[in-house]
Amino acid sequence: MKVMIINGPNLNRLGKREPAIYGHESLDQIMGSLSQQANELGCEIEHHQSNHEGDLIDWIHHAEEEHDGIILNAGAFTHYSYAIRDAIASISLPVIEVHLSNIYARESFRHTSVLLEVAIGQISGFGSIGYELALRGLINHLKGEI
Ligand code: DQA
Repeated sequence: MKVMIINGPNLNRLGKREPAIYGHESLDQIMGSLSQQANELGCEIEHHQSNHEGDLIDWIHHAEEEHDGIILNAGAFTHYSYAIRDAIASISLPVIEVHLSNIYARESFRHTSVLLEVAIGQISGFGSIGYELALRGLINHLKGEI
């Protein structure tokens, strides 16, 4: 099983960026732990991060070639990018949306996800462990267990 992890804008700043909201771990540390978890779960992950919408769209398209699913934290694009939503709708892979923070307990503009309707689910508010929860959920989904 091969899963693509895609992180969007400003997530390269994790560890330095608003630590009271996003925690003290860097993206490299979070992805390092996720890699170990993935190994234990018998799954391979490939990670990409970009601050550019088009890069996210290209990776979503490419994932269909050799991946089984996508875990996506699209950052602020979550709230308004119809282009990313259309990219997800254009592929047949399951996508899980992840947010470190609880987007529903923050500013009202964060309460809307334009991606959620085309994702299989969302994990929000559990910090970096959210990626691991998403990976477990995705694996179960792919095995037909949920
Ligand atoms: C985020 C939440 C978004 O609202 C925000 O723009 C981010 C990070 C999160 O992981 O909590 O960049 O996706």
